[in-house]
Amino acid sequence: MTTLVTGATGNTGRHVVRELVRRGEKVEALTRDAAAARALLGPEVDLVTGTHTAPSTLDDAWPGVDRLHVTVTAGLAEVGPELIDRAVAAGVRRITVVWGGGVGPVERAYNLTGPAALTTRERIAILAEAAGRPIEFARITHQQAVDRLLATGVSQADAEYVIGWYAESSPESYTVDPTVETLLGRPARTFTQWAAEHAHHFARPTA
Ligand SMILES: NC(=O)c1ccc[n+]([C@@H]2O[C@H](COP(=O)([O-])OP(=O)(O)OC[C@H]3O[C@@H](n4cnc5c(N)ncnc54)[C@H](OP(=O)(O)O)[C@@H]3O)[C@@H](O)[C@H]2O)c1
Repeated sequence: MTTLVTGATGNTGRHVVRELVRRGEKVEALTRDAAAARALLGPEVDLVTGTHTAPSTLDDAWPGVDRLHVTVTAGLAEVGPELIDRAVAAGVRRITVVWGGGVGPVERAYNLTGPAALTTRERIAILAEAAGRPIEFARITHQQAVDRLLATGVSQADAEYVIGWYAESSPESYTVDPTVETLLGRPARTFTQWAAEHAHHFARPTA
């Protein structure tokens, strides 16, 4: 089985790549920057240089690929149908997508949540505790939120989508779902556990 992973160098994708390699499976890791990806993912992973946002850049990679795992949703609303059509035409038989919202027609959808629904203020209190310092909750305007997201390189449409999602979250985002425990055979980790393990990311930068 060979899996082509988009967003392979990202927060999510790199773990998918490592787990597939650990299981002895073949991976084609998609990246726009092969040198950086090689340094991050190591020598045993085959790299494909291209981007899912231009699906034709993947054409040479399809032969031999059985599965496609999509972790990056940027631009997917525009290019998703073309990406899927090209993958299916090339013989890909299983496609999985990590999606942070409601899903359309799919064979099977897993709603993955932690073990408790927490408000933003509750999460900030947990982060402050883990970081050992006060963290302030600041209200910003819609436009400030848009500008911050645009500065990270996302499109206006994606920025509006994300902010709209926070403004009016879907019930899935605040409903605790047992799927993680069902799939893994152990309870989902708590946000407090995760914050403690990543506390160094929230430490105050030294001057
Ligand atoms: N983190 C969350 O809380 C959360 C919540 C809901 C949904 N999501 C979605 O889940 C997906 C995975 O998140 P993540 O944190 O793993 O992603 P990420 O680390 O931000 O990005 C993954 C990789 O995708 C490539 N990439 C990033 N932006 C791109 C673009 N505009 N066009 C083409 N390639 C791009 C980059 O790889 P190269 O530079 O190597 O090409 C990057 O390393 C994202 O789509 C995100 O929107 C995340």
